[in-house]
Amino acid sequence: MLHPPETFTTPRLVARLPRLEDAAAVFAAYASDPEVTRYLSWRYYTEVEPLREFLRRVLHTWETDDGGHYGWLLCLRGTDEPIGSIGVSLGLHGAVFGYVLGRAYWGRGLMAEAVRYVSAWALAQPPLFRVWAYCDAENLASARVLEKAGLVQEGRLRRWCACPTISPEPRDCLIYAKVR
Ligand SMILES: CC(C)(COP(=O)(O)OP(=O)(O)OC[C@H]1O[C@@H](n2cnc3c(N)ncnc32)[C@H](O)[C@@H]1OP(=O)(O)O)[C@@H](O)C(=O)NCCC(=O)NCCS
Repeated sequence: MLHPPETFTTPRLVARLPRLEDAAAVFAAYASDPEVTRYLSWRYYTEVEPLREFLRRVLHTWETDDGGHYGWLLCLRGTDEPIGSIGVSLGLHGAVFGYVLGRAYWGRGLMAEAVRYVSAWALAQPPLFRVWAYCDAENLASARVLEKAGLVQEGRLRRWCACPTISPEPRDCLIYAKVR
């Protein structure tokens, strides 16, 4: 059974397990911001409590390896304040990941560091041959992060995923992957 490392570091980031007490900080840093969730498959939170429930589910995956989403909170090195998150779901032969960063931290190349780490970890696991992610076709910053981390665009998934901050209708996405 694969179990991702519970913490990791990149040149500028520390990834750690979430704690239930992080809910308010996560809410403030990114989860309540409609600009941040514009291209995400979840809508911005308007209350902290449902976010605490989400963190509880993520922790449950870490504790039980229940096939769910292993999510880390990302902090700048030397701090313990969450500024973003990256998470991975493990399949039989591949891993799919997603990520989000607080708006105040965009444009510094931070997320590519975390994506590089998670992709390298996944492809170093013997059963895993493919690491992949998708982003809304209009989310050019995210597509660029995936390219910078060495993933290659494989195509366009038409009407693949809704971004409820924009509309309930599914939208086109770009799929990126790296294989070994
Ligand atoms: C997407 C996201 C993670 C990017 O993280 P980041 O650390 O700010 O990314 P970077 O600093 O590497 O910048 C993004 C890159 O995209 C480019 N970019 C940004 N906006 C762009 C746009 N509108 N058009 C074209 N390129 C754009 C930047 O120039 C940069 O590329 P460069 O390094 O070659 O100059 C961050 O913006 C975010 O959290 N957004 C909201 C949540 C989200 O969309 N998550 C991804 C879901 S798939």
